[in-house]
Amino acid sequence: MKKLWIGTSWKMNKDSDSAQAWASAVLPRIEKLHPQLQPFVIPPFPYISSVSSAFDASVMKVGAQNMCWQEEGAFTGEVSPLMVKDCGGSVVEMGHSERRAQFGETDETVNMKVHAALRHGLTPLVCVGDSGKEKRWGVSREAVIKQVKIALYEVPDHQIPQVIIAYEPIWAIGESGIPATPQEAESMHFAIRRALRELYGADLADAMTLLYGGSVNLDNASNLLDQPNIDGVFVGRTAWNASGYVQLLEIANSKFSS
Ligand code: PGA
Repeated sequence: MKKLWIGTSWKMNKDSDSAQAWASAVLPRIEKLHPQLQPFVIPPFPYISSVSSAFDASVMKVGAQNMCWQEEGAFTGEVSPLMVKDCGGSVVEMGHSERRAQFGETDETVNMKVHAALRHGLTPLVCVGDSGKEKRWGVSREAVIKQVKIALYEVPDHQIPQVIIAYEPIWAIGESGIPATPQEAESMHFAIRRALRELYGADLADAMTLLYGGSVNLDNASNLLDQPNIDGVFVGRTAWNASGYVQLLEIANSKFSS
């Protein structure tokens, strides 16, 4: 049975003390989770080491919010896959719309990062999403599937189970975002799954993990998690305080006890 992934990226938030406080508050709850739940946290680079050493890596996965596709060298300001691993990271987020909009991330660089992550045994967590305009124009599916296909260009069958895709509509993210309804999210996840089936066949595509992100909160998480093609949620604001994250874990955990 597939795992249900419940994770958060802190974006550019927290300091050493608040990072540690979050980990200490989440730790006791993590140990009692159903084994089908996969919690993960993606802190800013400087806190990856301390957060990862607070948790048992077999329970809580820790990741990076970005990564260079090169291993070492003259790439000022970049962080390599080897460094992410060295700090205890096992997941690498890539292609988030904030990085695409503000830091020049493209489908092509996402693809290079996917390959680099896979070469080093890291889990690429590829974020894709349609803009408000694309939604209005009725081209959301085309926009998202194009991002998915380029991100996965030349990723072979044997590596694809390692890749996670997060559908994060740009119009749903952040303070001004309007969360996708569970039906909207499911409909896009279904379209992504169909595209993956075309690329990799039904068995591999169906085994892949597809997350939803964008204004996930304590009210909508349960319905989102009930959708057949949603295998977890990737959360910002609601999970930045430990109690919000723990409550999301409780919601997900209840799916296994009922
Ligand atoms: P949000 O962020 O939950 O605060 O909307 C989601 C994201 O950017 O992944």
